[in-house]
Amino acid sequence: MSDPAYVPSSIARARNIADLRRMARRRLPRMVFDYIDGGADDEVSLARSVSRFRDLELTWDALADVSEVDTSTTIMGAASASPFFISPTATSRLFHPRQGELAVARAAHAAGVPYACSTLASSSVEDIAAANPGTKWFQVYVWRDRALVKEMLARAKAAGFSAILLTVDVPVAGNRERDGANDFTIPPKVTWRTATQALAAPGYLWDLMTTPEIRPANFAHIRIDGGLIGFINAQFDRTVTWKDAQWLRDNWDGNLAIKGISTPEDAQRCIGIGANAVWVSNHGGRQLDTAPATIDMLPGIAEAVADKAEIILDGGVRRGSDVVKALALGANAVAVGRAYLYGLGAGGERGVRRALEILDSELRRTMALCGRARLSGLTRDLIFKKTLP
Ligand code: FNR
Ligand code: LAC
Repeated sequence: MSDPAYVPSSIARARNIADLRRMARRRLPRMVFDYIDGGADDEVSLARSVSRFRDLELTWDALADVSEVDTSTTIMGAASASPFFISPTATSRLFHPRQGELAVARAAHAAGVPYACSTLASSSVEDIAAANPGTKWFQVYVWRDRALVKEMLARAKAAGFSAILLTVDVPVAGNRERDGANDFTIPPKVTWRTATQALAAPGYLWDLMTTPEIRPANFAHIRIDGGLIGFINAQFDRTVTWKDAQWLRDNWDGNLAIKGISTPEDAQRCIGIGANAVWVSNHGGRQLDTAPATIDMLPGIAEAVADKAEIILDGGVRRGSDVVKALALGANAVAVGRAYLYGLGAGGERGVRRALEILDSELRRTMALCGRARLSGLTRDLIFKKTLP
């Protein structure tokens, strides 16, 4: 169990994701840390997404040869060293104003796992592509201006992004109450109410003041200028339906994942429009609160999908054992958000590398302890029956 008072003195000494989280909390102004760490309303889904992984109990095969644990796989046709990858998260320069997305893209490439770039990235897709010659995917929200979406798809393709991820759980912005309490804006602004938060993080403040303004870098004329919630509600198209998802499918010849699926019925709709991957997600508990933990939704969705598409799961993954549990219950791969963002906030590229290294070594150790040396061996029988969702 992680000691809640321990804050490592260096990235190398971070033993687990919880350590990186405490380092990030110390380094970042509270408003920025809370934007990563927080969720919607009462944060019920957020807490449960972590705790439900812990509720599940693992069994093991005794005396199995685990001398060579192999974690390599393919995710949407791309080779990956591990069955986890970088989930798209908005404006990474918020968490490290100097390195932002480039730090994450480089760390993902070094770890040999796919990098997914958010529509709201604070670096351009071209700069990200220059930092990461490996597998890159681009996340889209459907904006009111469809021409803008088309133009963005063409740019992402030209820059070497091989899949798009359509996020479907943000018809309106979730109610993130920590952001409200902190007067959180993008770029962060220091008000009289938040001055003490900012002054408590002088290193961050210096980086913020000596680097270009943080803004969505892929949409030249779009500024957030204040609250993210107001921005999302103004720019994102609330009339979007499955017809628009089909439009996207028809306008993109690479792989397509639909991110933010919570029911078997919607999983089947994804297959119906020709999606390559069904992405089970509740946006990390940042949208609809009291949504079930994704690990609980997974078995029903896996049954409905039945190999007709790949299944990606995210939400609450903080340990390599969580990856094992998700794969055992039917996911092909797992995406991580906060796990690497804590690393980014704690120490830029080195912090993200450390986060990925931690997950990798935990995954390998858990597989060895379970007596399963291959990802294909991570099957439902590993989860103790009494605790199955
Ligand atoms: C996100 N997420 C997200 N998703 C997306 O499709 N586009 C985005 O721009 C963002 N932005 C974003 C910002 C921050 C700070 C966080 C924490 C998350 C959701 C993300 O991709 C993923 O679904 C969750 O983060 C998964 O939960 P965990 O791993 O953070 O528990
Ligand atoms: C978030 C949005 C931007 O989760 O996706 O903060």
